[in-house]
Amino acid sequence: MASHALNLLPGRVALITGGTRGIGRAIAETFAANGAHVVVTGTHPGPAQEVADLIQRRGWPDALGLPLDVRDPVQIEHVFTTTMVRFGRIDILVNNAGVHTGYPVAEFPLEAWRDLYRINVEGVFLCSQAAMRAMMAHGAGGVILHMSSAAARASGTKQAAYASSKAALLAFSRVLAVEGGPYGIRSNCILPGATETDMLEGVFATIPGIREELLGRTVLGKLGNVQDQANVALFLASDLGRHVTGEYVVVSGGEFMNA
Ligand SMILES: NC(=O)c1ccc[n+]([C@@H]2O[C@H](COP(=O)([O-])OP(=O)(O)OC[C@H]3O[C@@H](n4cnc5c(N)ncnc54)[C@H](O)[C@@H]3O)[C@@H](O)[C@H]2O)c1
Repeated sequence: MASHALNLLPGRVALITGGTRGIGRAIAETFAANGAHVVVTGTHPGPAQEVADLIQRRGWPDALGLPLDVRDPVQIEHVFTTTMVRFGRIDILVNNAGVHTGYPVAEFPLEAWRDLYRINVEGVFLCSQAAMRAMMAHGAGGVILHMSSAAARASGTKQAAYASSKAALLAFSRVLAVEGGPYGIRSNCILPGATETDMLEGVFATIPGIREELLGRTVLGKLGNVQDQANVALFLASDLGRHVTGEYVVVSGGEFMNA
């Protein structure tokens, strides 16, 4: 899976939330293949450790697999402390963990709304806060990436919580960019269009006809895959993207070219 082993992240320490499958896992493997020490986190310890073990077996730099539910500030503190003890720094945070829950506004259960916001927005705030503190204290700059969504700019039915939570990341990221700029800390969003993962399968299951609709909107005539997203994350996280901050990149095969 992890192509593009150009050693663009030599010795960097990168922490990825929701890194056990889908886009997060592709980012973890791509970063490791490019020389980064990767801290793979997931809601369950087993899968996180499995990805870290796989990285070791491939001969890439030392990796850690740790449990992390981004709703839990205690677990976040533990993950950042463990990372600092093991590697002494954190250079890159990828706020990838996210969930999609689809109801029409008129039927949206409050608890489902709140839980989505706890993961997609509050979790991003808590992880970014911990990363900012560690990066500012270390004094070597850093990069924070957010997996937002093209839905933040162009949305449809049953997307109220998801789209608005992902739109919140655009504004949040810009504030991080402004506050982090003097410390050499960059913050950017990636806005994937439809990308073939378990999450998208869930969306297809709840919104009939959406697969054909999304496919029909792409200019390139295909849905994205996880490597398409990881490649852009690699650019933004590495020195190739060193003058890019407070921005977002839509990665959608032209599905959302006007978003
Ligand atoms: N796949 C797409 O089409 C698409 C499009 C736009 C944006 N995105 C965004 O990209 C990111 C990755 O999506 P994906 O398609 O790989 O989804 P996925 O469902 O395959 O992966 C999401 C990851 O987040 C983790 N996660 C869920 N709740 C968590 C919690 N409370 N704490 C920590 N981790 C948690 C999951 O365990 C999983 O590893 C998400 O933020 C998603 O919103 C995906």
